[in-house]
Amino acid sequence: MTTTSARGADSAAAVAVAVNADADNPDADNPDADNPGEACTDHVHTGDVHTGHVHTGDVHTGQVNADEGATYAAARERSAVLDQLIDEQAAGHPERFRVLTGDRPTGPLHVGHYLASLRNRVRLQDKGVETFIVIPDYQVITDRDGVGAIGEHVHGLILDYLAAGIDPERTTIFSHSAVPALNQLMLPFLALTTEAELRRNPTVKDELELSGGRPLSGLLLTYPVHQAADILFCHGRVVPVGRDQLPHLEQTRAIARRFNQRYAAGQRIFSEPEALLSDVPLLLGTDGAKMSKSRGNVINLRDTADETAARIRGARTDSQRRITFEPKDRPEVANLLVLAGLFLGEAPESIAERVGEGGAQALKQVVTEAVNDGLRDHRARRAELERDPGYVVGVLRDGNARANVVAERTLATVREVMGMAY
Ligand code: TRP
Repeated sequence: MTTTSARGADSAAAVAVAVNADADNPDADNPDADNPGEACTDHVHTGDVHTGHVHTGDVHTGQVNADEGATYAAARERSAVLDQLIDEQAAGHPERFRVLTGDRPTGPLHVGHYLASLRNRVRLQDKGVETFIVIPDYQVITDRDGVGAIGEHVHGLILDYLAAGIDPERTTIFSHSAVPALNQLMLPFLALTTEAELRRNPTVKDELELSGGRPLSGLLLTYPVHQAADILFCHGRVVPVGRDQLPHLEQTRAIARRFNQRYAAGQRIFSEPEALLSDVPLLLGTDGAKMSKSRGNVINLRDTADETAARIRGARTDSQRRITFEPKDRPEVANLLVLAGLFLGEAPESIAERVGEGGAQALKQVVTEAVNDGLRDHRARRAELERDPGYVVGVLRDGNARANVVAERTLATVREVMGMAY
């Protein structure tokens, strides 16, 4: 844990209180008592895994830009506390830390995904945490006119999940489009969300900008609510996300809170989930700019060792011979050092030291080896799985079936508390 500040200690205390609240409720200790085979239930959860977040009631203030740095710092602190709690308690109470996360099926996963999220998911799974991975296929159509090669992308994601060590027995992998009850939750959730809130969501604004001048579709405007349904349908408590997703998590928390207040007479039907932020720094592409498919600056997990070597050979560096780690002044070199460091489990400064006067060429050699060695097993497993497309489809079908059971149960509870169980 990186948090040593007084605020961190406060957070830890707040969590302790929240976790103890669970102890009073026998159901919370074993929410799956009546259904041991399933990870999610519609039981009422009474304890949040709150990590010291201050709740402001029903008035959601949105993400104020000037506040963004502070919000992020606070989120990082809560994440550190949460991470520690998972270490200490996940083995005994896996349901308290149920993870829901996902990746849009818009293209192949790259080294950034691997280092910042895939490895972490496997780590959480292996600690005994119940994990759900949504492949949000409906989200893909929020910012483009067609659907593109969506099926292919979904298949590719599953290959990378499995190759990375996601175990489909323990982790439920499912897609939006296959889980109708999840999508239906969006209706009551939309009623709990204002148009103004959606319009000021900074991620929605960014997405709109990226969509190349398309008019704002209703689905893009409301996708944070869809994401809330992704998280709440299975009572996800821990959501590993990048910084850009924090506004959606706040929206999800507001929806959970409002649902309980307005539709469930204060009963805790939904718990407010917590973000788990990665401490892996944002990786840039091999040209020093943001990784993007269209810039051709990405190292994909499915690339061959030769393709990887070629991409790194073509990476931009600078004219100084001696290699040093100076992220501000030498961002391209620093990015390569970070990349190698993450694969080697070594500090970038130490790699810089090692390469020293060897210059860019020696640095690229080190990076190429680090990446190719680090991905060798992953790529071998991926290639093997690729030969068995039926298995991959079966994994998704099983996951979808499991997610449907969970979603239908949650929807049944929602209808019941809303007086709509006819
Ligand atoms: N919006 C996320 C992204 O663009 C993907 C996503 C969809 C997601 N539903 C989710 C992430 C639920 C976390 C939890 O990356």
